[in-house]
Amino acid sequence: MTIVVMTGGSSGFGAIAVRHLAADTRLLVGARAAADLPLDLGRLDSVREFAATVRRRLGDERIDALVLNAGIIRPDADGRSADGYETTFAVNHLAHYLLIRLLLPMLADGARIVLTTSGTYDPATGAGLATPRHADADLLAHPDRDPGRESDPKLAGQHAYTASKLCAVLTACALLEQPDLRSRDITAVAFDPGQVFGTGLARDLAVPLRIAWSVFGTPLGAPLRWFQPTTNTRAAAGIAMADLVLGHDSTGKPTPRTPLVALRRGRLACPELSELARRDDLRQRLWSDSARLAGIGSAAAHGVSG
Ligand SMILES: NC(=O)c1ccc[n+]([C@@H]2O[C@H](COP(=O)([O-])OP(=O)(O)OC[C@H]3O[C@@H](n4cnc5c(N)ncnc54)[C@H](OP(=O)(O)O)[C@@H]3O)[C@@H](O)[C@H]2O)c1
Repeated sequence: MTIVVMTGGSSGFGAIAVRHLAADTRLLVGARAAADLPLDLGRLDSVREFAATVRRRLGDERIDALVLNAGIIRPDADGRSADGYETTFAVNHLAHYLLIRLLLPMLADGARIVLTTSGTYDPATGAGLATPRHADADLLAHPDRDPGRESDPKLAGQHAYTASKLCAVLTACALLEQPDLRSRDITAVAFDPGQVFGTGLARDLAVPLRIAWSVFGTPLGAPLRWFQPTTNTRAAAGIAMADLVLGHDSTGKPTPRTPLVALRRGRLACPELSELARRDDLRQRLWSDSARLAGIGSAAAHGVSG
């Protein structure tokens, strides 16, 4: 049976993906909710404990898909994780980076890694949010040291989010270029679900935004999808994610094997990478700086051990 390890499966479209996958896969979902394996992405020690639990549960069995879907957006960049890093960067990128590094040795040949990004990572599809200026892990972890930091807290919070989603795309690209993963046909893809209203994502934002987010998530939001090609239903996003996890859709058609896949009008598309996402220097530096911030020794810098 296909074994899937996942974050962000407790609510939103991730929960829909879980329901679609449940029949055919053995799912190990990490979450703060009691029903799942305990995982708080705001604490690197919790990520290490989760990885150890997965190892114990699976023994000699191997993981067929690793899905990093959990994510948050905050009204500012003032929150700090248990490890002292800016919360959005810590939860959306650094914790997932550590989890990937810890579980890479447990991946089966041909395994798939799916990282949920957002179209807001790219100025071309930014949805009006502050777009990423860089992917410097040290500055994202400590935005108070960033000379270009947005003075408006709301914009600083948006930048933390969109930059963390640029990190997801860069991490997918970095994984795809690793020779040992290529030789084992292990693929990585950053998944942009488009705008998916009615999920829990807006829970920390201002009340008017929260209300709009849930109203557009009801049938009242349907007309929006006619005018806005980037908008998708929760069901469509959940099914697309499940397809990417399995590597094919319900008709058996293989899903694209590109670093970035976006859901547009309910269909998977392969957009160009943004200018920053194409930068080799950003990708390589993010990989090594993330390893240092996550407490991974430089000897393991190529991702073959935890
Ligand atoms: N909705 C959109 O329009 C949209 C657009 C682009 C990208 N995305 C991305 O899609 C992903 C899913 O978002 P969603 O819209 O479905 O929102 P959601 O309903 O809020 O789902 C977020 C998931 O992340 C989990 N999570 C958050 N903080 C966590 C932590 N510290 N430790 C462990 N798990 C944590 C949540 O678990 P709990 O149940 O414990 O909170 C939940 O399962 C996110 O990465 C988001 O950035 C969403």
